[in-house]
Amino acid sequence: MPSKSDYRQVVKQAVHNEATFVKATFSGRRRGYEVPWRRATLRPVLLRGKRYLQVSHLDDKQDTTRNYTGRDMERKVDELLDMPFSQIYVATTEGDIQVLISRKGTARVQRAKAEEPRQEPELTHDREKTRLIPEGEPDLLLQALGIQTQDGELRSGKRRKFLQINEFLRLIDETDELAMLEPPLRIIDCGCGSADLTFAIYHYLAHIRGLPAHAVGIDIKAELIEKQNALADELDYDDLQFEVSRIIEYEPEFQPDMVLALHACDTATDEALAQAVRWNARLIFSAPCCHHHLQAQMAEQPVPNVFQPVVRHGILKERVGDLLTDSFRAQILRILGYRADVVEFISPEHTDKNLMIRAVKRSELENYDSVVHQQMLAEYRDMVNFWGVQPYLAQLLPTQLSEAGI
Ligand SMILES: C[S@@+](CC[C@H](N)C(=O)[O-])C[C@H]1O[C@@H](n2cnc3c(N)ncnc32)[C@H](O)[C@@H]1O
Repeated sequence: MPSKSDYRQVVKQAVHNEATFVKATFSGRRRGYEVPWRRATLRPVLLRGKRYLQVSHLDDKQDTTRNYTGRDMERKVDELLDMPFSQIYVATTEGDIQVLISRKGTARVQRAKAEEPRQEPELTHDREKTRLIPEGEPDLLLQALGIQTQDGELRSGKRRKFLQINEFLRLIDETDELAMLEPPLRIIDCGCGSADLTFAIYHYLAHIRGLPAHAVGIDIKAELIEKQNALADELDYDDLQFEVSRIIEYEPEFQPDMVLALHACDTATDEALAQAVRWNARLIFSAPCCHHHLQAQMAEQPVPNVFQPVVRHGILKERVGDLLTDSFRAQILRILGYRADVVEFISPEHTDKNLMIRAVKRSELENYDSVVHQQMLAEYRDMVNFWGVQPYLAQLLPTQLSEAGI
């Protein structure tokens, strides 16, 4: 069995090998020890021509990402190796290395050679990444959506839409979850409307990533549904369908891996989140739109003094209501077993509704221990009591929340 220092060397050599290193994950904790993060992920990125190691920490509350280079990078890897993680996984172009470390610090190192030659690591920072649907290349979907000309040029006024589609795909892609799902990937888009994004995710998965997918878009507007089904037929997208339904009444024929709710109005977002939880969807991507429900409750409640200077101004009061609504939504998802974060999502229209709630079902390894879970519940209760409101999502999920301790 390799000694403690052997495995450190093995990991360091693999991570610092610029030619072959792809990704590393530190996770789990040795019995009797605490680690500051549930998981730390390392990958190489290129920023303005220089190689960095990007380190993302996932703790119970958020994901943070920082880039390191030179001595700082070496120190960071040493720092991670000093922490009592119980598993280290390193992917390289030549194969995988898995290290399991016992409570006493002894390690079992397993190597698996790559069955097929793997691509060299893609050293591109997220923001500088080539677009997932490339620019300048003729794309039948972009043409059908009126975004691109036959020659592959963006039509005038369509750049923002093109960027939004790519940003949407990037936000899904960077969860690194797609490849872990059993194909066909099953998707439900709640309140699909004009369905540009429903078509885009289907196209990206089925044609660009080569991952078989089955997607259904639902909306209450029958004329839109008819139009989208006609376009799906025209494009021969056999596994993309559209159905007329209210979100809350929809009964899917399959359990979805991914539920989308993009700019669904007011409580339609809550309906979609509630359905996603009931359907046990692994991934949820929701870009909320207007937030009237909580605003109406706030108008009935005395506002705590500390917030009086804020809510005195109509526009600030409205934004507080928006932020609270989305904070409640993310917190409820956390309480119900999801890793949830809130990130920026650009809209093609000029609007301040530019958030996305992104939630990934936690694995057993990532699950909260009871102390953290109790803290999540306490934070939620404090928010409810402080503002004297009941979020609509909580009203839709009483059983689930009560089972979780609310
Ligand atoms: C602002 S559009 C967004 C469309 C699309 N998801 C996007 O991001 O471009 C909202 C859509 O949600 C639909 N919608 C609103 N409430 C709904 C509900 N309760 N059930 C189903 N669809 C709903 C509307 O008909 C509308 O087409």
